[in-house]
Amino acid sequence: MDVRKLDVENWLTLDKNYMDEHVVRSQLLAQERHKVLQCLPESYEACLEALEEVVEFLTQRFSNMFDMKKHGEETTVYNKVTGETFVFGGKRTGQMDPLEIAVRLTMEDLSILMKNEDGEYYLAASASLFPVGWTVAERIGWTISRLHNPVPLWHQQVANSVSKFLCRLTPESPMERSNYFVEVKRPDEDLFDILYRPTTLSEDNPDPSPQDLVIRRERQTFRRLPRTGTIVFGVKTFLTTLDELPMQELENLAREVKSWPEHVGEYKGREIWGAKALEFCEKRRQQLGKASGNEEECQKQEEKLEKLDV
Ligand code: HEM
Repeated sequence: MDVRKLDVENWLTLDKNYMDEHVVRSQLLAQERHKVLQCLPESYEACLEALEEVVEFLTQRFSNMFDMKKHGEETTVYNKVTGETFVFGGKRTGQMDPLEIAVRLTMEDLSILMKNEDGEYYLAASASLFPVGWTVAERIGWTISRLHNPVPLWHQQVANSVSKFLCRLTPESPMERSNYFVEVKRPDEDLFDILYRPTTLSEDNPDPSPQDLVIRRERQTFRRLPRTGTIVFGVKTFLTTLDELPMQELENLAREVKSWPEHVGEYKGREIWGAKALEFCEKRRQQLGKASGNEEECQKQEEKLEKLDV
């Protein structure tokens, strides 16, 4: 499962891509709304609690960017960077889905997990703007187990641990994990197309360059909300192209790609991008090897690559 303790100070994060991604998020909420945002009626209180937590967190942790005013039951939140204002609570409740307000403020996609009658967690609400091969429209209401049906070895090796993990999560013990995919893009694709991949991660590009191979890392967070007892699941997506990866990470990727059994490789699309990625890694290794004849040059190369790390 590879989960670790989450430092609550870093539950939600902001980075230099905030504005660019904010534009894509707003576009998605306007054009693909029902595909990226779904909230079942029973999730309303949980979504409101999630929004309150998000606003509380952002206005404290990033007070240079967000401000909040409370007026009786009504809360107004200002985004100083985008100039947007959102009001919720009191009479304003219901004007915009609380989860929508939350993901218009964050860089994270957010989902609410609730327990069904059989004690299984299911996707009760979700604003997943940057999904990998699925949409909320088709999977809202699905249990965790059903959501992971396509994942190799899920039922044999992971399902039980994940359901125990979710049941044991307490408000005091938030957790996080990372996941990554390799995406193949076409040279002409823009940020919208790269981030929004509801069907396939690999676009038709028979000879992708290292700039067209995108390492798509997801930082996933798990928090139990104290009032409603539901779970808020956050996913922040980071993009790095293959040629931007520092050598050590490239080596790690190459090792992992080679270690996957056939069915895992197939699920991850290795046949489409694997050979290209390994070839690039080998070339880079050789370049660094040659340069290592000259220690100073080698050091410079490494430093240059380190700087490209995001
Ligand atoms: C500790 C908890 C979790 C673990 C260990 C886990 C693990 C995984 C793994 C290994 C994959 C395959 C992707 C890959 O190989 O990189 C995956 C895919 C996926 N996960 Fe999770 N996951 C967890 C929680 C969740 C939650 C809470 C959701 C709710 C939205 C979710 C939704 C999905 C979906 C939709 C996919 C794509 C499945 C597909 O290919 O159609 N996961 N997860």
